[in-house]
Amino acid sequence: MSLGNLVLIGVALFAILGAVGAFTIAFRRSQIDQPVDLADPTAGVSSETLKADKSMSGVRVEPLPVPVVEETVDEVEVEVEVEVEVEVEEPELVSTAIRVVETQRVVEVSPEEAGVTRRQFFNRAMNVTFFSFLGIMGINSLAFFWPKLSGGFGTDVDAGALADVKKQVFASDGSIIPLFVPEAKAYVVPAPANLSEQYIGKQVETDGLMALWQRCVHLGCRVPWCGPSVGFECPCHGSKYSSVGEYFAGPAPRNLDRFTVEIRNGRFIIQTGNIIQTARAPFMTVKYPQGPSCIGASTTSEA
Ligand code: FES
Repeated sequence: MSLGNLVLIGVALFAILGAVGAFTIAFRRSQIDQPVDLADPTAGVSSETLKADKSMSGVRVEPLPVPVVEETVDEVEVEVEVEVEVEVEEPELVSTAIRVVETQRVVEVSPEEAGVTRRQFFNRAMNVTFFSFLGIMGINSLAFFWPKLSGGFGTDVDAGALADVKKQVFASDGSIIPLFVPEAKAYVVPAPANLSEQYIGKQVETDGLMALWQRCVHLGCRVPWCGPSVGFECPCHGSKYSSVGEYFAGPAPRNLDRFTVEIRNGRFIIQTGNIIQTARAPFMTVKYPQGPSCIGASTTSEA
């Protein structure tokens, strides 16, 4: 047998096997496409499978009845939450950095930081007001207690030119009119020719004049001049003094107090810082009273 004959025989066998295979595949497909009997559980199962499953031979499985439930569907409002995903673009790093720098610039120039806040303003205003009040009170208190070094009561008071003072004290008709000096709170009166020994060496008289403190030595009332009696009479409790301040009557414990005096550059100076106190006069160096009393009290001396 030649090689050519062998090839022809092989090709013929190959063609026969191919034809058998194609026929078999076509037959199988024709079986699958046929309608399936739903009552038969083995319908559609291949013959090979049925042959392999010997245990199931002769068993018929009836399909279970499916209960039919009639449901009444009401209208139900169903809230449906829909989640929507929104893509937010994150700021770019470069733009955030720029925004921060801009914010810092605003803070730097803000009055809240660079200036004064409202609370700070009110706190400072209250502090300034409080300490100003304390300062003013302190200055006023210091001024009140500070001793006067010039002018006013407690210092040397200029009562005026000596000639003018004498002209006012000694009236042209020979009467006496004490000169009241408000700044010294004193009366300038004529000094007696026979000055009591109580006043010798105490500088209470100069050039025929003396200065009496207007304050009553009893309880401090202002003692006015009484022209008719030519003396000083206290309206508070009736103490009476002569024209030179010597005690005459009443509860006063001593003569009227007086100040040292001097003539300085032709002017009569009352040294109100030097107060001279003397006991009740042992005798009157001037006549008192010379007329009716102004307060209607006793006109006789109690000494
Ligand atoms: S105060 Fe002058 S008599 Fe009393």
